[in-house]
Amino acid sequence: MNKITKAIFPVAGLGTRFLPATKAIPKEMLPIIDKPLIEYAVEEAVLAGITEIIFITSHTKRSIEDHFNQNYELEKKLVQLGNNDALKKINRDIFKKLHLLMSNRVIQKGLGDAVLQARHLIEEEAFAILLADDLIINNPSATQQLIDIAIENESSVLGLNRVPQKDLGKYGVVASSKAFSDKLY
Ligand code: UTP
Repeated sequence: MNKITKAIFPVAGLGTRFLPATKAIPKEMLPIIDKPLIEYAVEEAVLAGITEIIFITSHTKRSIEDHFNQNYELEKKLVQLGNNDALKKINRDIFKKLHLLMSNRVIQKGLGDAVLQARHLIEEEAFAILLADDLIINNPSATQQLIDIAIENESSVLGLNRVPQKDLGKYGVVASSKAFSDKLY
């Protein structure tokens, strides 16, 4: 394994914890300042060497797909207005070579099942999984750090976050063994 170029983005969740904000807007499309959450994660993936992203999405989340597709009508208007700054914001150079695949799901059976939906799109190769609803700002980015560790050790690696005991019910939790905790970075 010397590089990782594919990433799965499971974005088909219901987002119940953020209701009512997520009733009509996917959680991953909620804005942080001037960009939706998902754009931060896609940017982080691209900067870490990812060239192909598989979105596991649902038909109710078309706005995610729309956000990364070209909006010809808006572009035409911006060209007419001579608004190059806005044009660059919706057509970012770093996304130009990115290949996006959408896999639509009808039912939400949880994160593990969502990842499994990409099985036929991944061959015998290492890949990344990014949960775009958790924004981590770091340098090097969390994705870059995980990819570097995976390549160096030729193994799977998980990015985890410590949370207070009282909040455990809100998260996916890993059970650790001694062998596991010896390998914490
Ligand atoms: P969460 O565990 O935050 O679940 O998913 P959720 O459904 O989005 O939100 P709550 O728990 O109802 O508030 C972590 C990531 O996994 C995706 C989500 O879209 C999110 O990016 N996910 C979750 C799926 O793709 N499919 C699922 O069935 C569940």
